[in-house]
Amino acid sequence: MLEKPLTSHIRADGVPLTLREYELQGGYQSVRKALLNMTPQAVQAEVKTSNLRGRGGAGFSTGLKWSFVPLDAPKPKYLIANADEMEPGTFKDRLLLESAPHQLIEGMIVSAYALQADTGFVFLRWAYHTAAKAINTAIAEAYQAGYLGQNILGTGFNLEMHLHTGAGRYMCGEETALLNSLEGKRATPRAKPPFPQVSGLFGRPTIVNNVETLCCIPHIITHGAEWFQKLSLTADAGTKIYGVSGKVRKPGLWELPMGTTLRELIEEHAGGMQDGLSFRGALPGGASTDFLVRDHLDVRMDYPSVAAAGSRLGTGTVIVLDDKTSVVGFVRNLIHFFAQESCGFCTPCREGLPWIEKILQAMQSGDGRKDDIPMLELHTRLLGPGNTFCALAPGAMEPLQSALKYFREDFEAYIREHASLEPITV
Ligand code: NAI
Repeated sequence: MLEKPLTSHIRADGVPLTLREYELQGGYQSVRKALLNMTPQAVQAEVKTSNLRGRGGAGFSTGLKWSFVPLDAPKPKYLIANADEMEPGTFKDRLLLESAPHQLIEGMIVSAYALQADTGFVFLRWAYHTAAKAINTAIAEAYQAGYLGQNILGTGFNLEMHLHTGAGRYMCGEETALLNSLEGKRATPRAKPPFPQVSGLFGRPTIVNNVETLCCIPHIITHGAEWFQKLSLTADAGTKIYGVSGKVRKPGLWELPMGTTLRELIEEHAGGMQDGLSFRGALPGGASTDFLVRDHLDVRMDYPSVAAAGSRLGTGTVIVLDDKTSVVGFVRNLIHFFAQESCGFCTPCREGLPWIEKILQAMQSGDGRKDDIPMLELHTRLLGPGNTFCALAPGAMEPLQSALKYFREDFEAYIREHASLEPITV
């Protein structure tokens, strides 16, 4: 059976399969199995047993999240594929969207059936033009084949599906800001609770799942929860699309068993560091995670193992820091992104991120002061969990706080030696 189920249908040239080609490779089998032979409750139970955890970054149990949707609530009910992939260093959903659009649509049909949702949206990052074309074509083909629309496969189940492209803001990927954006409002996050599962789009029960998460669903239903669990090396089930970027020999994406070590990712799959450079640290899952360092190279890249090492698996797309890149510049670059992308709704995030960027910039231009480090540390607390409305600013604090922990001497050197340090290479 497939060892790399999510990428098994992807052609070497990346051109997506037509619906017919996809069907010939086993595509849409899970729609037939679920709609014709399983109750929505049975589909939900299979997903819960599979131990699938959300691949967008938070790792929340998918089966548990689905269970909060009241099955007997009147329609409309919504299922949304969160394809607003904008976490720095993260490009895994792009691969699935551009090269395997039918897999996502199949996953959405089965998921919508399990939730008894009647409307699906793919909320796509504005810049993903190739993906938009692929998804639009695949939706049209699925309507034509009778997998979408009214009375799907003669079962009485109805599902309409739409592609919606975002306005190009990071904030739109936060699930409640996404809902506001889809409703035509400013993309600011909403208070939780109520969670979208109960009161989401236009106040109706709504599930927002990441693209990679939804792409796991057809395989869980076709091959079973136990098979899915066994794909992994650890208790976190399935495979994971890992990525590596930074100054490695072969940056890229690989579907591997969940629990593959950081060392294997960097040294085997990414080909190790480029000539003349050595590994200094890495953000394991996009920019809003804490650094792992050399001592963590044998950490298994699953949710609990990375958490035990003091970080988060996040999106599982690793950003590598080498020994010739300025840590201060590296972190400033990330803070610049988060400051730009703050929705401005809450004060610590709106005011704090540009303030931090200013301090880091001053350090880089030789104007660093002795009390900058305690000031940065204070900000990591002020912008930390519990002090802001959503996870943007606390996420932005993760690389900063861990850089201050592991690479403190770099910050001190900037202040001590002012601008005489190596030029910034980020
Ligand atoms: P979260 O932990 O608050 O929620 C995750 C999911 O679980 C949500 O769907 C939420 O509704 C559900 N959930 C959590 N607690 C619940 C409860 N008590 N009852 C019912 N449902 C509950 O995380 P959040 O803020 O949605 O996402 C943060 C993550 O997103 C970060 O880990 C970050 O790595 C990632 N991220 C990914 C991006 C990307 O481009 N893929 C971009 C930005 C952030």
